[in-house]
Amino acid sequence: MGNEGHVSFWKSHFDQQVEQYTAEHEILDFSNEKTMKQIHDITVNIAQSCLEDGDTVVDVGCGTGRTLALLVETSDFSTLRIIAVDISAGLLQQAQDALERVVPETTATRVLQSSILSLGIRDEGASVLICTEVLQYANPREGLKQLVDATQAHGTVVFSLPNVHNETIQRVVERNSGRYNSDDIGSIIRDLEQCTSIASCTLFPLEFQDEGSEQPYFDPIPLSLDEYTPDSGPNRYIVKLEL
Ligand SMILES: C[S@@+](CC[C@H](N)C(=O)[O-])C[C@H]1O[C@@H](n2cnc3c(N)ncnc32)[C@H](O)[C@@H]1O
Repeated sequence: MGNEGHVSFWKSHFDQQVEQYTAEHEILDFSNEKTMKQIHDITVNIAQSCLEDGDTVVDVGCGTGRTLALLVETSDFSTLRIIAVDISAGLLQQAQDALERVVPETTATRVLQSSILSLGIRDEGASVLICTEVLQYANPREGLKQLVDATQAHGTVVFSLPNVHNETIQRVVERNSGRYNSDDIGSIIRDLEQCTSIASCTLFPLEFQDEGSEQPYFDPIPLSLDEYTPDSGPNRYIVKLEL
């Protein structure tokens, strides 16, 4: 099944999950609310540290709009431009509703139904582009190139990707018959460096968060690309790319 087949499979899957969004975890079985919260908290912290009033923030594969809503609610930007992108019209509607509840009137928001593999937002030039838990449903290498193309010079891309060296992730890849993709994150970024200019890359290795545990999650120890070696320990990586 090629890219188009994968994209339409997951579009239909996520369209069916609109009412019960978290049911997705049943087929993936390595994700839970605590894990997602950690991903969103770290992503929002990174995004906030890179944004200024007047900037454009784009979330590709925004789902219910949770990340963007958290970003707005926990900061006092008043004139951000927000673009929420997703392939699922139903989830995009939820994102629009969530944003209408939290954004100030001075913040311009736009929603766009599009696949990550055919993003039509190059001219908008994201200052910060967010893409959490999406690339694996399309094609991580091609998708990441699209994200970088949609980001302005000196902008920042923050994305998450499952760690292909982790055994649980390997089982998920096998169970989803090639429709769920990952690849070595170091190799993806090194290949990307051949065709685009990346000023810096920071990787945040994340462990799976046990939902039942009372322990708070621990902040990950960031790695540079030079320090990265394939490691089966992390469940995923969050990556901050500064262009
Ligand atoms: C696991 S959810 C993550 C949602 C959100 N980014 C978050 O972190 O909560 C995956 C999202 O990616 C979207 N998606 C899947 N394939 C996509 C594609 N090819 N292009 C754009 N979005 C896609 C789904 O509709 C869904 O909203």
